[in-house]
Amino acid sequence: MGGFLYSQFFVTPQYPGQSFTGQTVLVTGANAGLGLEAARHITRLGAEKVILGVRNVVAGEAAKEDIEKSTGRSGVCEVWKVDLASHESTLAFADRIATLPKLDNAILNAAIATKDFNVAEGYEATITINVINSLLLGILLLPTLKATRQKNPSSTPRLTFVVSEVHAWVNFPEWTEENPLKVVSDPSRAKMGERYMLSKLLEVLLVQELASRVRGSEVIINMLNPGLCHSQLTRNNEPWAFTVFKFLVARSTEVGSRTLVASAAAGLESHGAYMTNGEVDNTMFSSFVRSDEGRQAREKVWGELSSILEGVRPGVMQGL
Ligand SMILES: NC(=O)c1ccc[n+]([C@@H]2O[C@H](COP(=O)([O-])OP(=O)(O)OC[C@H]3O[C@@H](n4cnc5c(N)ncnc54)[C@H](OP(=O)(O)O)[C@@H]3O)[C@@H](O)[C@H]2O)c1
Repeated sequence: MGGFLYSQFFVTPQYPGQSFTGQTVLVTGANAGLGLEAARHITRLGAEKVILGVRNVVAGEAAKEDIEKSTGRSGVCEVWKVDLASHESTLAFADRIATLPKLDNAILNAAIATKDFNVAEGYEATITINVINSLLLGILLLPTLKATRQKNPSSTPRLTFVVSEVHAWVNFPEWTEENPLKVVSDPSRAKMGERYMLSKLLEVLLVQELASRVRGSEVIINMLNPGLCHSQLTRNNEPWAFTVFKFLVARSTEVGSRTLVASAAAGLESHGAYMTNGEVDNTMFSSFVRSDEGRQAREKVWGELSSILEGVRPGVMQGL
């Protein structure tokens, strides 16, 4: 908590100045919040093509227009539909990405935070969107990212996941049970008050495991914490006390988005690593993530994820 408040009050991530000239970049959840502001920076910084991966195409078109107006660059952003609550939509989106001549950078940012229990594809929806299909998409993008590296060995593509420091604010005792993702999706067991935090812990564990299976010299896979920022994340269920807390403590959306851009431009040292305030800082992984128990939990959940994803697209895990 001390580190969190220190960052919120005393650290301002650097205004992005890295070049994205000529790059093809994907940002999911780019119609709002941090994703929109990151896409705006990356467009300003010279990207050739910025794919706004959105579930609401009308909102995506409005975001595109807004970015074009503010950056003065038109013909760069493209709005592509993806709904991470659906395997079919995630697969179709990934297949469309695979038709691109190259993909230099993918920022997997889309997520939900809700206390309502809903089911998507047989799992609680936060688990499906923030964890299962975010990882599915990341894994499906790898062949295109690797092929981009082969075509242009002078630069390494990046796959960046937006996680959160709240991964450290939740316990995960269910990891010892069989099929923990199924267990936490049981309505009688789901603790929806801490569901978002759990989803971010699961994402941290799985991204670490994914990165351990891919050479950083081929694709740099990293994850980042943007800090507490103004956005639409808690739009449906924000208690008034949290609104006041955010008013006092939160970064602006633009300032928070700088951390996404920093990770999308980070070097090999960020492979498998946790970035906060725009810099690698693995000491900010929770003590659970760094523990032996955390390592066992990670292997267990990876095993469960692998069989879920093999059921969604047979063979998907074989290249890893
Ligand atoms: N804001 C913070 O304080 C904070 C702190 C730590 C980490 N983060 C992380 O930052 C990332 C961005 O969040 P944000 O704060 O910018 O929230 P946001 O303003 O709510 O943006 C979330 C984006 O994800 C999209 N999305 C949600 N469900 C989706 C689905 N099923 N398929 C495709 N897209 C979907 C949303 O689309 P719609 O507009 O259509 O819903 C929206 O574009 C998230 O990963 C979040 O966990 C945020």
